[in-house]
Amino acid sequence: MEKKFNEIYSKGRNLYTHAFIDGRVYGEKLITENGINYREWNPFKSKYCAGLTNGLKENIFFKGATVLYLGSAEGTTVSHVSDIVGEEGNIFCVDLSEIAMQKLVKLSEKRENILPILSDAGIVDNYKEYLEDGVDALFQDVSQKDQTEIFLKNAVFLKKNCLGALSLKTLSISQSEKKEKILENEKKKLESVFEILQIVNLEPFETGHYLILVKKR
Ligand SMILES: C[S@@+](CC[C@H](N)C(=O)[O-])C[C@H]1O[C@@H](n2cnc3c(N)ncnc32)[C@H](O)[C@@H]1O
Repeated sequence: MEKKFNEIYSKGRNLYTHAFIDGRVYGEKLITENGINYREWNPFKSKYCAGLTNGLKENIFFKGATVLYLGSAEGTTVSHVSDIVGEEGNIFCVDLSEIAMQKLVKLSEKRENILPILSDAGIVDNYKEYLEDGVDALFQDVSQKDQTEIFLKNAVFLKKNCLGALSLKTLSISQSEKKEKILENEKKKLESVFEILQIVNLEPFETGHYLILVKKR
């Protein structure tokens, strides 16, 4: 097992996180090496992992970080972020699906660094009281037409010079326009608040998706 980034390991093409709590979360493979338990991270089930597999140059998450994660669903990717930030970190997880939230709440009973918030991520007033101290990392994976505007609204919580990543689903923005053109438009909006550090195409794991790595100005 080799260290790829802080708290992320690789073996061959596969990525792993060190299991902060023992046991599977979504049927992933577990391996033990030198007495340490690792959970395999599936790039077909996690856009952040797809980004890392396709060459994302920085990991926005780190041990002890406070994270705002928009579009957590039932916690597939969140469970790996939970491994990375560890017991001193916190992940505020926003999702508007009650069904997904029920599963996430169950996961948060075992993994206490997961803090579920049932809300539309476009209505930041619903949860701003929890985020007054700001966050060290911002991640978003919501398939909405106004996904960039949602990310920009939540940028107020990200501390200056900290990193964020937006998983952009171009098909949610337009079915008729070319994905490259959509990307150019969304990039311009992001540049009002962020420096764009890298754009990673998520194929073959996800069609028409990009992971945009940003730094808050
Ligand atoms: C593709 S899934 C997220 C998968 C998850 N990020 C993972 O990797 O495990 C998208 C999620 O975004 C949520 N969502 C869509 N629009 C939203 C919004 N405006 N606010 C909050 N959550 C939203 C959906 O309920 C869904 O659970």
